[in-house]
Amino acid sequence: MAKMKPMTAAVEQSLVQLAGGGPPAEMVFGDWYPALRAEGLKRGDTAVAMLLGIPMLVGRKSDGALFALRDLCPHRGIPLSVGWFDGETVQCKYHGWRFEPCSGRCEEIPSLTSFDHLVPTKIYANAFPVVERDGYAWVYVPAAGAGRVENLSGLPPVPELPKFGKRYRSAHLTAELPCNVDHGIIGLMDPAHGPFVHRAWWWRSAASIHEKTKKFEPLEDSEHGGRNAGFRMSAHAPSTNSAPYKLLGKPVTTIDFVLPNRRYETIRAVNAKGRERWFASLTTVTPVTATSCRIDVIAAWDIAYRVPFVTPIATYFGAKFVAQDQQTMVEQARGLRSNPGLMLIDDADMPAKWYFALKQRRLTGEGEHPLKGPVELHWRS
Ligand code: FES
Ligand SMILES: [Fe+2]
Repeated sequence: MAKMKPMTAAVEQSLVQLAGGGPPAEMVFGDWYPALRAEGLKRGDTAVAMLLGIPMLVGRKSDGALFALRDLCPHRGIPLSVGWFDGETVQCKYHGWRFEPCSGRCEEIPSLTSFDHLVPTKIYANAFPVVERDGYAWVYVPAAGAGRVENLSGLPPVPELPKFGKRYRSAHLTAELPCNVDHGIIGLMDPAHGPFVHRAWWWRSAASIHEKTKKFEPLEDSEHGGRNAGFRMSAHAPSTNSAPYKLLGKPVTTIDFVLPNRRYETIRAVNAKGRERWFASLTTVTPVTATSCRIDVIAAWDIAYRVPFVTPIATYFGAKFVAQDQQTMVEQARGLRSNPGLMLIDDADMPAKWYFALKQRRLTGEGEHPLKGPVELHWRS
């Protein structure tokens, strides 16, 4: 048997914990959420994560399979992460119960004798479906009391970053936000904060603010009963006041928001030589707890594929961009702690209104799509 390795239970005090949360948001269970970057998890490694208020132990077995266990021993509730993992089984630190981590099935209870009738394999730790995609461990978080998920076939599709070719570069970013997931999401789709939060010489200045008209259309997801419904900002040429876009040729951008937390952006451009170039990103805002969330961005592109250092440079500017949002939300969280009343105005906050209506529809199973058909919104940004 491989050596049992102690797992690290030490969770650094995060920014989110330090900042403290404002008011909680209702969380949408029954969908896939990125728990952490899985690409760094080697065989035999484990890591801890918090997802929708559930502590998770995520790891990779010696055969490469990922697992995600609720980080609590079903015996007496000690975190499994303080125990040991040998690449095959997770062993609890307290009384040494041993679990196969993909199924959660208990394989051994060391205290049992021939006088006992308890069958360990009838006991399960709570294991969640987990799929590795775009470098993330995507974990399916069922509603409380929904029971064990036996197979993946009945589950909604795992989100994926769209790619439009075989050769591309990619980068990812993550930032913890000390506000609830609703504020994280409406911040993400907010069209009016750009000129104020994202001022930078390389992007745009506040003086470049001008009137915009954007077309939106509903996304119904009728295939899955509307579970991942949302809306699309229809194909348009991106703001001409954003310098990096000028490099691309004639780009066409589409931005989709779909429940519960996903924003897909694609930019496709035909350059002077008639070759298609593309950029795609998937941004998710995931509830860590009811009062805090985390933003994850994964992007891929084949624009400037051959130019060296594009990935670190893109990551650098992307990180600056996300850090500006994060800084703003840390400041906002200070205000939200006194639970102020809030406003959503037309038209700039219309996408936020749609989000709340769609989320409510998903949570209650009642109501109509807030968008009856294509509409135009106007704002200055
Ligand atoms: S608490 Fe885990 S084995 Fe007893
Ligand atoms: Fe932003």
